[in-house]
Amino acid sequence: MVDASVDEHPGLGKGLGRLQGKVAIITGANSGIGRATSRLFAREGAKVVCCDIQEATTPRVDRLIEQGGGQAVFLKVDVTLQADCDRMISTALERYGDLDILFNNAGGGVRKKIHEFTDEEWNFVMNLNLTAIFRGVRAAIPHFLKKGRGNIVNTASTFGILATEQYPAYCATKAAVVNLTRQMALDYGPSGIRVNCVCPGATETPRFRGYPPQPSLDRATDEQRARMASSNRALLRMARPEEIAYGALFLVSDESSFVTGHALVIDGGQSIDA
Ligand SMILES: NC(=O)c1ccc[n+]([C@@H]2O[C@H](COP(=O)([O-])OP(=O)(O)OC[C@H]3O[C@@H](n4cnc5c(N)ncnc54)[C@H](O)[C@@H]3O)[C@@H](O)[C@H]2O)c1
Repeated sequence: MVDASVDEHPGLGKGLGRLQGKVAIITGANSGIGRATSRLFAREGAKVVCCDIQEATTPRVDRLIEQGGGQAVFLKVDVTLQADCDRMISTALERYGDLDILFNNAGGGVRKKIHEFTDEEWNFVMNLNLTAIFRGVRAAIPHFLKKGRGNIVNTASTFGILATEQYPAYCATKAAVVNLTRQMALDYGPSGIRVNCVCPGATETPRFRGYPPQPSLDRATDEQRARMASSNRALLRMARPEEIAYGALFLVSDESSFVTGHALVIDGGQSIDA
């Protein structure tokens, strides 16, 4: 039972109208980083198309946004399917008449060594973390090109820059996201489209992992959380989802108008530690 009197994202500010009049699509919007970012973008004035494969989380993110006076619509979407990605774009255009921002955030992994992977598990991670970005961007780009303007942010990870044990497909796909971000920034910069990514470190979210996919399969145990928090020797804790959301906000706002192809590491200093 959710206690409605407790704000699940106490770190979210009131909003300063940074995204007033903008329309944003966010994937993986009903949990974790995507949920906090959906709320933040709405508070900053955006109309948000909240896309997720699961809608069971209560209150669903669009309702949470509407309760706070923002505008949002929920769309049940599997980002690994092109038809669903096409539907995200057409929904934004039909419902809100425009599209300015695409935040490709849905993602997850399977924790085991590479020789233990089945083809299904490997393909699951490739499709979810990497191919889905190709599908989302492919669907959005014609509109951005027509408009002469657009903004794409992808969620990579510090594991796109560093490695960790028993996470081969995740590390490979997140590294690919970092370089795909740079590559797309080159191709589309001349057309007024910026492409960046965030690289979160360990973040307190109900992670969606595993194959076959199961919502909230892999909530970290208290012991795992303590280990992750104590492995950060700079700020000595994990991130809150809204701290990643503020990084994404910077990248999609006009305040970052000269930033493209950038991988913004938001990890409390974990990756500076040799
Ligand atoms: N939590 C962390 O420590 C951390 C660190 C670095 C990067 N990340 C990345 O941040 C992103 C968000 O992760 P999170 O921690 O908020 O996870 P989360 O599990 O809390 O949220 C992910 C959401 O994505 C949705 N989703 C999964 N598969 C989908 C699909 N095929 N189509 C549409 N939606 C789908 C899930 O239903 C869930 O609501 C992921 O890309 C993850 O790899 C997370």
